[in-house]
Amino acid sequence: MLSQSDNEILTKVGPGTPAGELLRRYWHPVAVAGELTAEKPIKAVKILGENLVVFRMPANEGETQPRYGLVAEQCPHRLASLAYGRVDAEGIRCPYHGWKFSPNGRCIEQPAEPKGSTYKDEIEHAGYPVQKLGGLLYAYMGPAPAPLLPRWDVLVREDGKRWIVAESVIDCNWLQAMENSVDPAHLYWLHNTTGHLGEFLKKYEEKREFIKFEWGIMKRRTTPGKTPADAPMVDEHPLLFPTILRHVSNEVHGERSGEKRFRHNIQIRVPIDDTHIKVYRVNFVPNDTDRSPPDMDSPFEYRPLKSEEGEYLMNIVSAQDSMAWETQGAIADRSRENLGVSDVGIVMLRKLVKEQIDIVAAGGDPMGTIRDPAKNKIIVIDVINERMGLRRGMAAE
Ligand code: FES
Ligand SMILES: [Fe+2]
Repeated sequence: MLSQSDNEILTKVGPGTPAGELLRRYWHPVAVAGELTAEKPIKAVKILGENLVVFRMPANEGETQPRYGLVAEQCPHRLASLAYGRVDAEGIRCPYHGWKFSPNGRCIEQPAEPKGSTYKDEIEHAGYPVQKLGGLLYAYMGPAPAPLLPRWDVLVREDGKRWIVAESVIDCNWLQAMENSVDPAHLYWLHNTTGHLGEFLKKYEEKREFIKFEWGIMKRRTTPGKTPADAPMVDEHPLLFPTILRHVSNEVHGERSGEKRFRHNIQIRVPIDDTHIKVYRVNFVPNDTDRSPPDMDSPFEYRPLKSEEGEYLMNIVSAQDSMAWETQGAIADRSRENLGVSDVGIVMLRKLVKEQIDIVAAGGDPMGTIRDPAKNKIIVIDVINERMGLRRGMAAE
């Protein structure tokens, strides 16, 4: 249980709010790179409560990759939307009177102003750096210098195939989604309808541990073997602070040397505003023939979570989760909860968020900030998933 004021501190994401300032110390996906094309180079997006447009500019001469910009959506002249603007090699031009902005938001042209006017230099317009990685466009909206964009293995591995699933917007606050990642007790109830869990699991009490580690919280479950003679099995699923679940699905995608190949994924819960998130799931499957270079625009699909009638598609795991998160309330009123012993992971996450908010308020770098390129070649989280035969870590085949 939390007081209303503590609940606000942990949940609100706008500029100047405690959690909003914490979240602004991390890179967040704003779009799938493949959503922007030469024909349709602009997309209106909302991140951390700010209305923005992300746009794709042609590659520089001699280069192959397009360049990207991210600026506030409303033109600072008389507030028309830049989402209907025009993009060229220098930036984005407002569709109303043609003011033009560089990718970092600097006003570089005001065609209707007198020749030689320096008025454009006085205009302030928000603009944020964008980087492409693993087929996603990431933005950093915090103070300079920006930390490095973490190169999670799923985003940068080259020995297989990568693809992205962008889910429909979920109408709840970001913390509800993240609390779900340290809540193993829901597994056997919310997700058992799909039958993807072994039936035997329901019969036994499992041991649950939550271990703070360099990148977040490691959730570890130890389940008794099928018979008393069998050794217990350990499974770990890390929460990568603040908005990612690192997961390995039990879908099998072929074998090599007798070992099964599983679908590795990260599920990134991007805070759109106080009461909405968008989930990007980046999937990676090791593969000998079908490989995705890290700089390609990964294929992507949209996934609805509700039927046309607005009912949750309860045969889909992610729709089961989103049902729980949305029905908790747009921002769950944590002053009305009754937490039990099984909620220890949730309490730990809330403490961690508060601790990291305090670090940022004191001028420090929060958990998971990377500033040393040597540490960021590829980040492999070494975890155990014995149920799926992954004993050497998630990245191992
Ligand atoms: S409103 Fe954008 S140029 Fe006038
Ligand atoms: Fe779940």
